[in-house]
Amino acid sequence: MKPVKVGICGLGTVGGGTFNVLKRNAEEIARRAGRGIEVAQIATRHPNSKCDTGSTPITADIFDLVNNPEIDIVVELIGGYTVAKELVLKAIENGKHVVTANKALIAVHGNEIFAKAREKGVIVAFEASVAGGIPVIKAIREGLAGNRINWLAGIINGTGNFILTEMREKGRTFEDVLKEAQELGYAEADPTFDVEGIDAAHKLTILASIAFGIPLQFDKAYTEGIARLTTADVNYAEALGYRIKHLGVARRTEAGIELRVHPTLIPADRLIANVNGVMNAVMVNGDAVGSTLYYGAGAGMEPTASAVVADVVDVTRALTTDPNNRVPHLAFQPDSLSDHPILPITACESAYYLRIQAKDHPGVLAQVATILSERGINIESIMQKEAEVQDGLVPVILVTHRVVEQRIDDAIAALERLDDVVDKVVRIRVEQLN
Ligand code: HSE
Repeated sequence: MKPVKVGICGLGTVGGGTFNVLKRNAEEIARRAGRGIEVAQIATRHPNSKCDTGSTPITADIFDLVNNPEIDIVVELIGGYTVAKELVLKAIENGKHVVTANKALIAVHGNEIFAKAREKGVIVAFEASVAGGIPVIKAIREGLAGNRINWLAGIINGTGNFILTEMREKGRTFEDVLKEAQELGYAEADPTFDVEGIDAAHKLTILASIAFGIPLQFDKAYTEGIARLTTADVNYAEALGYRIKHLGVARRTEAGIELRVHPTLIPADRLIANVNGVMNAVMVNGDAVGSTLYYGAGAGMEPTASAVVADVVDVTRALTTDPNNRVPHLAFQPDSLSDHPILPITACESAYYLRIQAKDHPGVLAQVATILSERGINIESIMQKEAEVQDGLVPVILVTHRVVEQRIDDAIAALERLDDVVDKVVRIRVEQLN
C-alpha cells in the first residue's frame, strides 16, 4: 500500500521531535499502522538544529503545505489561535485530516473546528494537546467509555510544576526556575499562560468535555495562578501533612460542573502529590473503575512528539473507515452532548486552608471560630505558630471541612473586618482526592 503523506507545519520543539520520531521509528510505526508514514513536506521559516530534515521539501508558507494535494494528514504545530485556526480550517476544507498539539486552539475554537470536520468527514486528533506524552485523552475517551466519570484532577502544566518543585526542594527563586523552563522549551511563548493557569485551563476544558460529554467552554473555567504563593504557605502546608500543587479540577455535581484551576493542598501521601518537576499526572474517577492515575512527561520535544505520532498512526488506520463510525472528537456523539451548566467558582465546593495574621492576645481564636461556625464552616485542624510571633502578630492557620465557596468568601470578609486581624486572609483550596 502507498505510504501515507504527512505535512508538518512548524519545526520548533514539538515539530522537530515529531519529524525525528517518525524517521527513527519508521519501521515500527509502519508495522503498527499497516502502511508507511512519510513526511512529504515541512512548513517552517526557521531550521531546527536538532532535526536533520535531509531531502524533505521545505516551504516557508504553511498554506503551500495545506494546499498540497499530495498531503493526507496536516500536523499543526505552530501554536496560537489565529493563523493556526485559519490553517486548520483550510486543511479541513481541503479534505485533509489534522493532528494538532494546540490546546489553546482546541479549548477556544474546538466546537467550531469539530463541526467543520464532521461536515467534511475528516478527523481532527489532539492527544498531544493535554499532558504531553501521556495518552490521557485516549484513556478517557476510549479506555473509560463504560464509566460515568465523577471527577478528574490533574497536574497538567509542566512548567508550573517544575517551578513549584524547584522552589520547594531547592529554595530557588520563581524567576530563575521560569527562565530555565523557557530554555528547556517547556514554557509557553507567553509564560504567563503557564504561571497564571491559562494553559492548564485550556487542557482542563478539553479533559472535562471528553469526560462529561459537554461542549468546550474555556470561557467558563475559573483560573488562579501560582505567582502569589509564598514559601511560608508551602512550609505550613507541609507541617499540616499537605503539598501545594497547581491543580486542574473538573467535577460533576447535581447542580452543574466544576471547572477550576488553582493552587491546591493535597495530602502529601497521595501519589499525585509526589509528581515533581516537569512531570504531569491526571487522576480520573469513574463509577465503575474507581480512581485511576496517568503519569508521564507533560512537555518536551519527544514526549509530546510521542502523542502526535500516536495520533498520526490512529488517523492512518482510520483513513478507510466510515466517518460516522469513528470515535467522536469529544468522546460522545455530537448530538448527545449535555447542556449541564458550568458552575461559577462561588458555587463550587472544596475544603480550605486559611492563614490569618492576627494580634496575639486572648479571644482572637474564639472570634475566628465564631465567624466560621456562624456560617456552618467546620474546622478540621488549626495551628497557631506562637514561635513565630512578630511585632505582636501571630499566624493562625486552619483547614476547614468541605463547604461552598460563597460561605468562605463571606467568612473571609468578616474575618478581615475584625480589629484583631491584619492583612488579607490567605486562602488556598484543599482537595483530599479520595
Ligand atoms: N507549557 C506547557 C507546559 C507545555 O509547561 O506544560 C505543554 O503543554
